Amino acid sequence: MFSTGALLSLTCLVCSVLGTTWKQSDSYVGTQFLSGFDHMAIADPTHGRVNYLDQATAVQKNITYAHGNTLILRADHTTKLSASGPGRDSFRLMSKKTYTNHVTVWNVRHMPRGCGTWPALWEFGANWPAQGEVDIMEGVNGHGSNQATLHTTAGCTVGGSRSMTGTSLGTNCDVAATGNAGCSVFDTSSKSFGINFNSNGGGFFAMERSSSGVKVWFWPRHASNIPSDVLNGATSVNTANWGTPMADFPSTSCDMASHFGPHNIVINLTFCGDWAGQAAIYNSQDGCSGSCVDNVNNNPGSFDWAYFDVAWLKIYQ
Ligand SMILES: *[C@@H]1O[C@H](CO)[C@@H](O)[C@H](O)[C@H]1NC(C)=O
Ligand SMILES: *[C@@H]1O[C@H](CO)[C@@H](O)[C@H](O)[C@H]1NC(C)=O
Repeated sequence: MFSTGALLSLTCLVCSVLGTTWKQSDSYVGTQFLSGFDHMAIADPTHGRVNYLDQATAVQKNITYAHGNTLILRADHTTKLSASGPGRDSFRLMSKKTYTNHVTVWNVRHMPRGCGTWPALWEFGANWPAQGEVDIMEGVNGHGSNQATLHTTAGCTVGGSRSMTGTSLGTNCDVAATGNAGCSVFDTSSKSFGINFNSNGGGFFAMERSSSGVKVWFWPRHASNIPSDVLNGATSVNTANWGTPMADFPSTSCDMASHFGPHNIVINLTFCGDWAGQAAIYNSQDGCSGSCVDNVNNNPGSFDWAYFDVAWLKIYQ
């Protein structure tokens, strides 16, 4: 006879088999980004030459434009700045909800590019770095490819066997041990970032966070291998069918529960600062000469292409 206990353990078996199937809990399209996210008018902790606007001001200045199935978030590209005044108007949106184990799928048509730009799609906990940070899309100056990164406290490394298409830049995720760099993985596809991402019509970034770690995928627009649940923003997704991820951060030597708390989702664009503004990095980019901050102050036209065009964001839990 089947005991309740046997039934329960049978149910749990099924549970673990279905552990890669996730159900949509939130969908953000157009104006849903205005109700589901806050515009954070705060100082950039990474010292960018930026002025993050509150939502009312951002909408009034058309820095934020939400309509139909479009969310445009852009840098001010018309104003010359006084060197002694605030930085360039931009945006930092943070989800009102927090998420622990979950999957995010971003459908992005265009991302900010240009000298001095530092855009990111990322997630982090209120108590940083104790609750961890997951950077899904990040890069500077519109060049190179995407970089996905974990930032944690001590005791989280991602060595060992990893199944991924990207290139590891380091395996210690501890911010204190890495000068805040964390453990990054570079995408080998140039279509994953900046100019090449945009000229190809953008694409899909996805992230899965579970007790077994964090995985990040990227599919360029029109790729033949975009899973149909990703392409369609389906009401449920099965990450087991998504193929080898771009970045794999297994939990083997990084206990997820003790390094990652509830996360808010952030989409932001800063300028110069601790990464994009380093002279060695800035001046190594095609056509980015002189000082990053001078360019931000004096050349608004160089920010014509510094905008996100987001079709949607879906969250699965
Ligand atoms: C904006 O994004 C960059 C890149 O991830 C990040 O380093 C910076 O701290 C962010 N700014 C704010 C205010 O969150
Ligand atoms: C605001 O930005 C959107 C998107 O770029 C554009 O279509 C629209 O014309 C702009 N509105 C104004 C008043 O400039």
